Amino acid sequence: MAQKRREEALILQKNEIAPGIFDCWLRVDELAKEAGPGQFLMLSCKDGSRLLPRPISICEIGEDKRSLRLVFRVAGEGTKELSQMEAGERIAALGPLGNGFPLKERAAFLIGGGIGIPPILELSKRLSCKKQIVLGFRDEAFLLEDFKKQGDVYVATEDGSLGVKGTVLDAIAAHGLEADVIYACGPLPMLRALKEYAAQHGMECYVSLEERMACGIGACLGCVCQSKDVDAHTNVRNKRVCKEGPVFEAGEVEF
Ligand SMILES: Cc1cc2nc3c(=O)[nH]c(=O)nc-3n(C[C@H](O)[C@H](O)[C@H](O)COP(=O)(O)OP(=O)(O)OC[C@H]3O[C@@H](n4cnc5c(N)ncnc54)[C@H](O)[C@@H]3O)c2cc1C
Ligand code: FES
Repeated sequence: MAQKRREEALILQKNEIAPGIFDCWLRVDELAKEAGPGQFLMLSCKDGSRLLPRPISICEIGEDKRSLRLVFRVAGEGTKELSQMEAGERIAALGPLGNGFPLKERAAFLIGGGIGIPPILELSKRLSCKKQIVLGFRDEAFLLEDFKKQGDVYVATEDGSLGVKGTVLDAIAAHGLEADVIYACGPLPMLRALKEYAAQHGMECYVSLEERMACGIGACLGCVCQSKDVDAHTNVRNKRVCKEGPVFEAGEVEF
């Protein structure tokens, strides 16, 4: 497993790529060297009233292994503060954290919904199997051009403004797509529907779950979800999303 490190990351650039969605490249010394797709960082706010760091997924790892791309939506005060930081400022980052996506190299659906889309980009770069990238947006799309360099891209939007009107499963059905493995990150209803679809079609399915986090390193048990089996660490049917996850084989966890 990658060794986690704490660093003062340097913000290289930051742009708003869709309303309220920011794209940010960080310069890091060691953090990116062992990072993989689906792992995340804990970013600490400068404002002392916000003690808890914020978990943000790694969207892309620079080829030099000294830079990391994050794409985030402004949700509350912590992400607002992050969105207001400028190139040249530094931010405390801990990572790479958690278990990312396994690389199965079998025909795959790479599925992202909303702000769950960013970690799918690094995954799409790492896999060299047949990749069908299915992205679901509420309205305005982002990162589309980056994804088009990595495989066939299919889009669904809730309002039908781009691609198929409806969900990612509607896009899969409309294009008659087939695969052996599902990798997914996005809202819970989407992940539940994909877990069921995978079971019906005899597919492997890996989902990235989101929970509120405090420590991000498995110590506080603030982020547990219910698991199928008893967990060796807690001796109950729990798994820590920050430590055993955020990516789980869909059958391992209840959600
Ligand atoms: C493993 C993981 C990866 C994530 N990756 C991304 C990403 O790549 N891009 C992105 O935009 N968002 C991502 N999120 C969600 C992001 O962490 C929250 O939007 C962010 O923490 C909100 O902080 P805030 O201070 O702006 O909002 P507030 O609502 O003010 O936050 C209050 C507290 O609740 C926590 N919190 C609020 N919403 C969430 C949430 N959805 N998930 C977890 N904790 C939350 C905050 O961390 C903070 O401790 C990820 C979450 C997890 C767990
Ligand atoms: S956030 Fe502390 S155990 Fe996961």
